[in-house]
Amino acid sequence: MEAVTTERKPIVLSAIQPTSVPTLGNYIGALRNWKLMCEDYDCLYAVADLHALTVHPEPAKLRQQTLEMYALLLSIGLDPEKNTVFIQSMVPAHAELAWILDCYTMFGEASRMTQFKDKSQKHADNVNVGLFAYPILMAADILLYQANFVPVGADQKQHLEICRDIASRFNTLRGNTFTIPEPFIGKVGASIKSLQDPTQKMSKSDPNPKASVSLLDPPEMILKKFKSAVTDSEACVRYADGKDGINNLMTIYSCCTGRDFAAIEAEFAGKGYGDFKVKVAEAVIEELRPVQENYRRLMADKAYLMQTAAQGAEKAARRANKTLFKAKKKVGLLLP
Ligand code: TRP
Repeated sequence: MEAVTTERKPIVLSAIQPTSVPTLGNYIGALRNWKLMCEDYDCLYAVADLHALTVHPEPAKLRQQTLEMYALLLSIGLDPEKNTVFIQSMVPAHAELAWILDCYTMFGEASRMTQFKDKSQKHADNVNVGLFAYPILMAADILLYQANFVPVGADQKQHLEICRDIASRFNTLRGNTFTIPEPFIGKVGASIKSLQDPTQKMSKSDPNPKASVSLLDPPEMILKKFKSAVTDSEACVRYADGKDGINNLMTIYSCCTGRDFAAIEAEFAGKGYGDFKVKVAEAVIEELRPVQENYRRLMADKAYLMQTAAQGAEKAARRANKTLFKAKKKVGLLLP
């Protein structure tokens, strides 16, 4: 039985592409906040498999990675009962609204997206229309659910801007239809750096495997990577300008233990970097242990995963279709 409540929580939507296993940086900077927001917000989280099509992944691999990413979202503690956790392509409304929004997006404004310009340069052999329309599909993801907030990293801020522009234009031309979403920038640990070059962001596409920790790295590998993390020659654990390596390790340690920098400095006063690195690795291993255990359990039960994904899609579709129907009516499409 559903509880009757008059309280409406603000709506949050975010999505992640199923391209590769997220790093510790993605986890601390984004995914962990997704989980923290679940209490105070009405959250919807999606695996953006339609977005992944722009790079032409091998079909069997995309299917597998989509399921893995879905399992990972549940593993970090997103509750499919309390929130809505779904796979984008299982909700047809996304592709449908994207087309309508395509017609309310100017070629010029979409051409200005820096990610489109970067990606077209990097993959000059596959500059497809999907890559161009990518931010408009993302706008559909957000606007379908009347989201108030969208947790995004710096690289997606421009896409959220164009989403707001498209929504405002549509609302002005066709009457109020969409909520204008705000970006939601996390507080702590927003940016975790590479373990090998702490002036750079930790990235899953870094060619040096020691630079990043994946959420599914086994404990011994995590320990090894932290032991070889780049630091400095001062041999003092303190947070200061110019100590990018130590600052990064302190940030990671702080995020995993909840301790602040002063407490960490006190804990390691007079100790060398060797001890500190091992302690950071252990804290990360403990933080990820339940995630990895959940993941193994879930991946061993594909039937459960598929069933949960189907239920998530149904829940999402019920909400998405309300907005879609409204938009279709506003632009003059006949409804059956
Ligand atoms: N484009 C986002 C990324 O690559 C993923 C994404 C798709 C997204 N749809 C979204 C993020 C909607 C926020 C809201 O990171």
